[in-house]
Amino acid sequence: MNQLKFSLEESEIPEKWYNILPLLSLEPPLNPKSLDPAEKEDLLKIFAKPCVEQEMSQESWIDIPEKVRKIYRHWRPTPLFRARDLEDMIGTPAKIYYKYEGVSPPGSHKPNTAVAQAYYNKKEGMERVTTETGAGQWGSALSYGANQFDLPSTVYMVRISYRQKPDRRPMMEAWNGEVIPSPSKKTEAGKDRFNEDSENPGSLGIAIAEAIEDAAKHENVHYTIGSVLNHVLLHQTVIGLETKKQFKKAGDEPDIMIGCAGGGSSFAGFSLPFIGDVIEGEKNTNFRVVEPTACPSLTSGRYRYDFGDSAQETPLIKMYTLGHDFVPPPIHSGGLRYHGMAPIISKLVEEEVMEPVAVSQMEMFEAALEFSDVEGIIPAPEPGHAIQQTIKEAKRCRETGEEKTIAFLLCGHGHFDMEAYREYYSDELEHIEYPEDEIEKSMDKLPDVE
Ligand SMILES: Cc1ncc(COP(=O)(O)O)c(C=O)c1O
Repeated sequence: MNQLKFSLEESEIPEKWYNILPLLSLEPPLNPKSLDPAEKEDLLKIFAKPCVEQEMSQESWIDIPEKVRKIYRHWRPTPLFRARDLEDMIGTPAKIYYKYEGVSPPGSHKPNTAVAQAYYNKKEGMERVTTETGAGQWGSALSYGANQFDLPSTVYMVRISYRQKPDRRPMMEAWNGEVIPSPSKKTEAGKDRFNEDSENPGSLGIAIAEAIEDAAKHENVHYTIGSVLNHVLLHQTVIGLETKKQFKKAGDEPDIMIGCAGGGSSFAGFSLPFIGDVIEGEKNTNFRVVEPTACPSLTSGRYRYDFGDSAQETPLIKMYTLGHDFVPPPIHSGGLRYHGMAPIISKLVEEEVMEPVAVSQMEMFEAALEFSDVEGIIPAPEPGHAIQQTIKEAKRCRETGEEKTIAFLLCGHGHFDMEAYREYYSDELEHIEYPEDEIEKSMDKLPDVE
């Protein structure tokens, strides 16, 4: 074991989140009916007020409420490791570091925002919060966060995942979350589909529509979201702010930062504090954002206004998208199966501050296992994508002799994904082709707004 760990004291947990919005000119979200910029009032119907304000804030630094910091202390600061054994295995002159978010109670970066959203909603007098979840990572984080404030939560879980990932449900229930397989008969958005086929496998788009409808229809109930929106990315910047301090302790700084992206919140949280320095001309760090070839919004999608959900209920947002109708193939990285991408990440890709790359499921599992063989941690399939790209960059350095410092985000462990690893070992994993025809069809249905 040749690993080096850079730890911080509890008192070094950041006191403020970093807001990149003043450095970017993002196009506003649009009302889907009038196509005018969305009104703050529309968002206030479903989100807590501080979240709506943060969504548009032009302040560079935003205080982390003390009650949120206190809960962060249960698992933060998270460690930064230098992966010397991985470097040796590759035989690279590059230095490899990784920041590990799998030490949180639900096992990923998601509670960094779940706790904050639960806190604001409790403070506003909400009696319940709702959300959707695909594979269960976000739903677990939300139930955990809400339970910290004695706030009941309702999680609409895509039915196919509800069946395939049975262990996530009791986890949410342990944190007093109510878990409803979606589509359900509880909402207008789910009812028809449920009545047609009570075993309908569901999709993230339908589950989002159900969770929003439940919140909108009930007094003192709000909706919460696990990625994509600006305030979610803001809350995740605790990751990058800690990483900066840890690099200072290590006497080093990253030349290349790498992370996976489904909606983009974890990689944004890791990289935005460093990107601020690049935009302000102080540094020239490179950023690689990694997505699956099966759901390639950044590498094959279009930068257009689109809906966040398949029911076409959400405001239109300017982002890289494969079309709101696109249903990604059933890869094991449930957290990366989203048709769009955060507007902040999309803008940074459009402006060539971040370089997007796509990685296949097979290459990802191979890299994830090379990593766990030497470093011990079994990664979730989502950050497996970042590991694959890291190993590729380190091998390139081996060829060129460059002594680069590479940092990647290990945003969650894979303890709930062992069935996926089993399939990989027993050669049961399907090779999933790039779904060109499906993407083409779905792109045809993009709203006609540039
Ligand atoms: C472990 C893990 N990593 C990554 C993601 C992708 O989300 P994001 O792109 O917002 O970080 C998810 C989403 O569920 C996740 O659970």
